[in-house]
Amino acid sequence: MESVLEAPVELTLAQQVMEREKQYVLQTYARYPVVIARGKGCNVWDTDGKKYLDLLSGIGVNALGHAHPRIVRVIREQAGKLMHCSNLYYHEYQGKLAERLVKISGLERAFFCNSGTEAMEGALKIAKAYGNRHSPEKNELISFENSFHGRSLGAISVTGQPKYRKDFEPLLPNVRFVPRNDPAALEQAMSERTAGVCLEIIQGEGGIYPFSEEMIRKARELCDRFQALFVLDEIQCGVGRPGAFFSYQLFHPPVLPDVMVTAKPLGAGLPIGVILTNSKASDALAPGMHGTTFGGGALACRVALECLDIIEELLPHIRQTGAYFQDKLRQLASQFSFVKEVRGQGLMLGIEIEFPCKHFVLDALAEGLLINVTHDTVIRLLPPYLITEREVDRAVRGLRNVFRKAAKAARN
Ligand SMILES: Cc1ncc(COP(=O)(O)O)c(C=O)c1O
Repeated sequence: MESVLEAPVELTLAQQVMEREKQYVLQTYARYPVVIARGKGCNVWDTDGKKYLDLLSGIGVNALGHAHPRIVRVIREQAGKLMHCSNLYYHEYQGKLAERLVKISGLERAFFCNSGTEAMEGALKIAKAYGNRHSPEKNELISFENSFHGRSLGAISVTGQPKYRKDFEPLLPNVRFVPRNDPAALEQAMSERTAGVCLEIIQGEGGIYPFSEEMIRKARELCDRFQALFVLDEIQCGVGRPGAFFSYQLFHPPVLPDVMVTAKPLGAGLPIGVILTNSKASDALAPGMHGTTFGGGALACRVALECLDIIEELLPHIRQTGAYFQDKLRQLASQFSFVKEVRGQGLMLGIEIEFPCKHFVLDALAEGLLINVTHDTVIRLLPPYLITEREVDRAVRGLRNVFRKAAKAARN
């Protein structure tokens, strides 16, 4: 087949990139027609030189924005020394990162992998192994409606959204889904057969829906009563995003999980995931029961250590700018009757619209903003933690124009 790229037509660089992908890349993504060329701080530029304020940070990954000088320096230095040596040998940084994460999280041990899904998959294996140790009947997992835990077969088995599951049935058996803030339903679903309960304290992909403190405390209490593992997915709502290192630390006293998984911002753009466990959970895994080639490499771990140092410094800024952003969004919402709700925590924000609003993403691109719409009706904002109040003002001005356009279209 002749490539469009070989045809005698003049294509822009952006068109060439898009055509090449269309022809050669598995078509699993519905990409927007923008080719990002570079980034600096909270901004990115496309191949035509147009500037965008990045309010999505690569779906929560680029929490330190783009080309952060401390991250660039550490990558340069470490890449010239040692990037990877496999888990057959030691290197200096895996243990240091584990120690740091243990201290931050209040848990006891870490296992490193390469993505959120892989961390979730490992957590499910831990829950299964833990259940098996108790009895062959202790094999049920509980998850929540509207949740999202990744794309592997295990992760979609506990993802409470039929659209992600339907093409891959049958999935893992013995998974029950419970409504988000319904302690009675959770109590009814649990028994001695429950091996683990999995949840995101703030559902991200599901539309920025937080669990109530009452529900989280109830889940913890039920896991203790039935000797099940309490597994928190902090892949999107953790590592500083809510204004605390982890969202379970927003409660006073914090509600500690038995297993916690996280990923996205931890590597400041490099792929890294982690499972953190207490001893109750880590005892379920003996040598040889789990592993990975890439996980916990020297470069990823060293960068994550630097990233955590920077995030720690930014926590007060995240809380302050997050509150400022929510406030400005509420003011904006009050001017447009189709905005149902503004919600979120720290720099994890959702604006719920009365109607499907995926087209807002294109309108926002025209305004020079990168945003995302999840669940058809929720604008999801996951800006870099460095975002300033001036940049928030710029974001709100752009969103106002997007909303004005929608209001005008509704009138015509
Ligand atoms: C809560 C949650 N869990 C799991 C995942 C999967 O992570 P990854 O895409 O890194 O595999 C995501 C990704 O969006 C997520 O938001």
